[in-house]
Amino acid sequence: MKKVVVTREMFDETIEYLEQHFSVVSNQTDRAIARDELIGMLRDADGIQSYSTDRIDNELLAQCPGIKAICNTAVGYNNIDVGACTRRGIMVTNTPGVLDNSVADYAIGLMIATCRRMSEGERYLRAGEWKSTFLKQTLGKDVHGATIGIVGFGRIGQAIAKRARGFDMNILYHTRNRVMQDVEQKLGVQYVGKEELLGQSDIVMLILPYTPETHHFIGAQELAMMKPSAVLINMARGGIVDDAALVEALRAGTIWSAGLDVYENEPRLNPGFIGLENAVLSPHIASASESTRYAMAMTAAKNLVAALSGEQPPNLVNPDYRNHLKG
Ligand code: GLV
Repeated sequence: MKKVVVTREMFDETIEYLEQHFSVVSNQTDRAIARDELIGMLRDADGIQSYSTDRIDNELLAQCPGIKAICNTAVGYNNIDVGACTRRGIMVTNTPGVLDNSVADYAIGLMIATCRRMSEGERYLRAGEWKSTFLKQTLGKDVHGATIGIVGFGRIGQAIAKRARGFDMNILYHTRNRVMQDVEQKLGVQYVGKEELLGQSDIVMLILPYTPETHHFIGAQELAMMKPSAVLINMARGGIVDDAALVEALRAGTIWSAGLDVYENEPRLNPGFIGLENAVLSPHIASASESTRYAMAMTAAKNLVAALSGEQPPNLVNPDYRNHLKG
């Protein structure tokens, strides 16, 4: 029987489903397994159901020669060295589609929470400081009618645009591959260059993949191009924003505030964020609704079953792996 390793806690049904097909070794705690221990578990494994916190690099793969498939329980897969997997003939899969609406809902929630200073209001109330209600209390920025600039316009970016329309927002977007005109028309969005988007948006919403090209896509220079009244929302990945530059910009008032679900070096985020009133911070939970996390876990497991049964897994990200299969 083939052996698979599930690196992080999954739903019971996910493990039961995998056990119908494989011998399963799983870590059903909420802690990551230390790397050496993980490598030990993977040495004689055929496949992995991984999580975005697992760093799967060439060094690890070199020690686990039996691995044929790595099925990430996430839509993003920057935790995996896909090039190294491809060269070794290993399939990589992700979980696209099932989380789009939950992440888009959360993006809108984080945008409103940031613009309307919701966390700050709650901190004030819980600290017992609410002594009276007054006109200029916790004044924020309106979302309705504002210009939102969405960077990254795949399924989730488009789902955010659809929701933004409901708030009568003026919607700009920027992406590597401009979408078809009929999609632009249907969503009521306008394609602009990066600088134009940064200069014109009241809210800059990041939802682009993290790659070597998008590392520090927003740094000190880009923050300086934004309006001093602007709000930055990072829904994408840590590393897309230069967090040290963002802390500095939030302190200096280069931009007005930021709503962040992802960070460089998470969970050890830049300590500068913690003391800032003008940052709304959440611990990478945009896709964390019960039904969506369940769907992600089951999608990854189904990819793993397909991959190790000789079928094409539904969410294969590196079809070129076939060119490197060993005879
Ligand atoms: C979450 O961040 C994901 O990539 O699914």
